[in-house]
Amino acid sequence: MDRIEISKANVLKGSVSIPPDKSISHRAILFSSIAKGKSFVKNILRAGDIDATLEACRSLGVSIEDHGDHVIIHGKGLHGLSEPANIIDCGNSGTTLRLISGILAAHPFFSVLTGDESLRKRPMARIIEPLSLMGADIKARGGNQFPPLGIRGNQLKPITYTMPIASAQVKSSLLLAGLFTDGITEITEPVQSRDHSEKMLSFLGADITVKDMQITVRGGKDLRASEISVPGDFSSAAFFIIAALMIPSSEITLKKVGINPTRTGLLTILQQMGARIEVTNIHDVSGESVANISCTGMDRLQAVHIKKEMIPSLIDEVPILCVISALADGTTTIRGAEELRVKESDRIASMASELRKMGVTIEEYPDGISIQGPADLRGATVDSYGDHRIAMALAIAALAAEGTTTIRGCSAVNISFPGFFDAIRSIVR
Ligand code: S3P
Repeated sequence: MDRIEISKANVLKGSVSIPPDKSISHRAILFSSIAKGKSFVKNILRAGDIDATLEACRSLGVSIEDHGDHVIIHGKGLHGLSEPANIIDCGNSGTTLRLISGILAAHPFFSVLTGDESLRKRPMARIIEPLSLMGADIKARGGNQFPPLGIRGNQLKPITYTMPIASAQVKSSLLLAGLFTDGITEITEPVQSRDHSEKMLSFLGADITVKDMQITVRGGKDLRASEISVPGDFSSAAFFIIAALMIPSSEITLKKVGINPTRTGLLTILQQMGARIEVTNIHDVSGESVANISCTGMDRLQAVHIKKEMIPSLIDEVPILCVISALADGTTTIRGAEELRVKESDRIASMASELRKMGVTIEEYPDGISIQGPADLRGATVDSYGDHRIAMALAIAALAAEGTTTIRGCSAVNISFPGFFDAIRSIVR
């Protein structure tokens, strides 16, 4: 049965091994597939979303040797992919579908991209419109809005484009498309989103420049096959950072976690809430910053107000931030977060309804949520809505809730963190 029971924990101690970064793993596979020659991707994430990207690239004729925690990718160069014999199933992964669209829009063949029930409800006009301005021929369901997408590749032309929303997936899709043009593509973001694509493209030798919120890429230059090491995923580490903070006397260390500043808005917010978090041994791995993170349990944190400008740097951490907010002193508000409504589930609605079942007073807004703390969390039967980050956030809430919590749809964690429940068991004392 796809459910798990979790009881209140007295204290959490020890070290958790955090899985490799999902965003960087996707990019390492996709970019190596269009680089020239043999790339090694070390410490790659093994999880549902990454399987989707590996299979998608294989179906485009890329040979990928699977050695478990590392893969060897025989890149085809910028124009070497071949027409897939079947539709490409991106599963639950928006990153796979949106990034690969930017590549396929420039290849002279026909491809169809689809996904599971959740992905088929997610908005795609945000990539279809700018890619079409570049000359792409893309059609999609619901008046060019939702997967499946049918793409007939074309010679693309560069564009200058200001993105209406901050989205690393949209930005990356356009940068990838820009690689195949014979000019300079210039993209401006409203607020900076994660910059793993810019960093990795630069690491692989692309002609890319970044100035504040503006990124330019000059097309036509081959990417170099390389060795890429993937750091631990900050978004996976976030669940254990919060778990440690919310249970007094806990002490947790997380090693080799990516701390790219475009991802670590949660650390800034937690510090504002009064948390004690130590970041040590900061070093560079394949162009990304990595560190160890240690957290100590606190008696009580303070509520905060989180504004729109902060959202991109903690976009995937909002569900777990809702959990710590429920235990903080005062009312926490999160606004300008309407993007949360179009993730793997409507994450505002999912967290509001399930935390209410656990005894939290919550108000929902179209663009956010307010959470009244401190709540006396109580065990309940809650639902993940098939969303990995909702399943994990509720599991962490369960550690602080009186009695036992049953989480339905717990296997969703396999999308990004297959060993999640074992990791919890290993630190409960
Ligand atoms: C991702 C970007 C973010 C994030 C997603 C992964 C990426 O999505 O929520 O989990 O790897 O580029 P958006 O770009 O849609 O905000």
